[in-house]
Amino acid sequence: MDERRAMIEAIALAGDAMPHPNPRVGAIVLDAAGEPVGRGYHDHGPGHPHAEVRALEDAGSRAAGGTLVTTMEPCAHDGRTPPCTAAIIGAGISRVVVGAEDPDERVAGRGFAALRAAGVEVAAGLEREAVEAMDPGYFHHRRTGRPRVTLKGAITLDGQAAAADGSARWISGEDARRDAHRLRAHSDAVMVGAGTVLADDPALTVRLPEFARVQPRPVVVAGRRPLPPEAAVFGRHPIVLAPEPVDLPGEIVVLPGNGGVDLAAALGCLGSAGIVDLMVEGGPTLAGALLRAGLVDRGVFYVAGMLGAGTGRPGIAGTFATLADAIPLEITGVERIGNDVRIEFTPGGS
Ligand SMILES: NC(=O)c1ccc[n+]([C@@H]2O[C@H](COP(=O)([O-])OP(=O)(O)OC[C@H]3O[C@@H](n4cnc5c(N)ncnc54)[C@H](OP(=O)(O)O)[C@@H]3O)[C@@H](O)[C@H]2O)c1
Repeated sequence: MDERRAMIEAIALAGDAMPHPNPRVGAIVLDAAGEPVGRGYHDHGPGHPHAEVRALEDAGSRAAGGTLVTTMEPCAHDGRTPPCTAAIIGAGISRVVVGAEDPDERVAGRGFAALRAAGVEVAAGLEREAVEAMDPGYFHHRRTGRPRVTLKGAITLDGQAAAADGSARWISGEDARRDAHRLRAHSDAVMVGAGTVLADDPALTVRLPEFARVQPRPVVVAGRRPLPPEAAVFGRHPIVLAPEPVDLPGEIVVLPGNGGVDLAAALGCLGSAGIVDLMVEGGPTLAGALLRAGLVDRGVFYVAGMLGAGTGRPGIAGTFATLADAIPLEITGVERIGNDVRIEFTPGGS
């Protein structure tokens, strides 16, 4: 098997794992003749064996003199598991092929240095883009200290997030809602604003059995209005970000800022708590504040086969005063889902 094919297989191995806040990593051991003899991926997060160690265990003595193909730079530090570099050197691997350098400050180049110092040949950058695309949240989190923020919205074809009376269930159809649950399932946390808690009382759980293995942590952005402690989300020990001290169930973090909670500081705080992928599910006031502050990394909007045919509540709150204020987007995906259209975008495109 050639090294590129092995890398592609290693990426596929790690693809759906959720080891956050650790990265998704896949590894393949090729023996001295280039035959794949060991496979491993990192599945359960901190404290569980890393992909490289699993692949080496799988290969056993056949690893000696072989090549380890791994999506991520091996760690060289003692964490909750011993360093992978020591296992690689101990197994007698003579060449390591890496997809992406690990931006985590405890690794960042040290893994390569430890291997080279032991006489192991190292090649880096094979399929780097595909490796980073498999876990964009991890790379974003380690480079910025913040979670990667995905803003999800469901709007009518004429851009309304709710009717004038606040009713919004359901604007998008069943298939789109199922897709949104899949997004939730791939997030470490799901955030809503106070207005959404008051209007919809969401539990923010993943309710599809095939996706409900790990529930994302709920996050509430509280404001000045009192919130009912019996709301469904407070039964799930949420992180409550508030502009002033509040008496609510959950982990309360007070972060005063302009217009309520300081959202940039809030994301830093969630990043420090190990939240790598954050999904924001509204509502329009929180969505507008995050977008205008440049804190949204990706948008997923479901544009429904439905017209408000009048003015209800806009998808994004705030005033669109002049065209120069518009936020340019790069549209990265368009897909029809049932009777809705899913549009994925990155803010900041030209
Ligand atoms: N279609 C959809 O995708 C969708 C999704 C979610 C919700 N909705 C609908 O949207 C409506 C609720 O939206 P909403 O805009 O009123 O509520 P929201 O965006 O969920 O919450 C906004 C509230 O959060 C608090 N807050 C604290 N700091 C903030 C900050 N820095 N920036 C922004 N907000 C901050 C404020 O509460 P205080 O006012 O108490 O100070 C603010 O009014 C409901 O009708 C709901 O059904 C629709």
